[in-house]
Amino acid sequence: MALAASLIDPMNKSHDTPRHVAIVMDGNGRWASKRSLARAMGHKRGAEAVRGAIEGAVDAGVEYLTLYAFSSENWNRPAEEVSDLMGLLKLYLTREIKSLHKEGVRLRIIGNRDRLSAEIKKSITKAEELTKNNGRLTLVIALSYGSRDEILQAAKAVAIKATAGDLDIDQLTEEQFERELFTHGIPDPDLIIRTSGEQRLSNFLLWQVAYSEFLFVDTLWPDFTKEHFASAVKVFAMRERRYGVRP
Ligand code: FPP
Repeated sequence: MALAASLIDPMNKSHDTPRHVAIVMDGNGRWASKRSLARAMGHKRGAEAVRGAIEGAVDAGVEYLTLYAFSSENWNRPAEEVSDLMGLLKLYLTREIKSLHKEGVRLRIIGNRDRLSAEIKKSITKAEELTKNNGRLTLVIALSYGSRDEILQAAKAVAIKATAGDLDIDQLTEEQFERELFTHGIPDPDLIIRTSGEQRLSNFLLWQVAYSEFLFVDTLWPDFTKEHFASAVKVFAMRERRYGVRP
């Protein structure tokens, strides 16, 4: 109640905009079962809700929007659901990419591509190449992504360089390590949103969230709109970030 009132408080003059917002899009299944629909329908509506988040990000002046679309653990879902999700992602990469490009959105995909079909890998390369010079918003889609996997492969890359004599392990810096992560070149998220009332990270951006603000909202992902995004940005503006330092 107090929070809702403060969101519309005209005296709130804070204009801190998060540079990077990352979202765990959760609740597609519950959205569908509440309506006695198949889970596939929840995912379809979830894919449609992505548009609202992009519009919200552009309206707010956010530079990077990362969406957790398919985790490395999601491969363990029933084959039919994996196939539905992959179908939606393929469609998104081939159909939606044209309008994203027109709107000046750059697309980047993070995650382990080894398990993706050749067709999806090809669409990713094409979409990233087409949009690489766009600067209005960078849309980062986490696909076949797992943060522990990401950190582990970065550690391996660093170890290989050290063994080859290309790197002094005692001098290894956070910046050098970050260069080996899928997210290299992308600033750390300022704000993490998770929908559907669940309050956990689920192996998402574990290294990158060291100083992020977290916002858990009850809205199920298919119901998430650009207005929800705008409210989240307002909540962020009221948070005091200290980065471990005393004010
Ligand atoms: C979690 O809901 C959501 C997912 C596992 C997939 C997210 C995918 C989309 C929103 C669609 C495709 C995305 C793009 C970018 C086109 P859940 O199934 O775990 O829901 P539940 O917890 O209610 O069962």
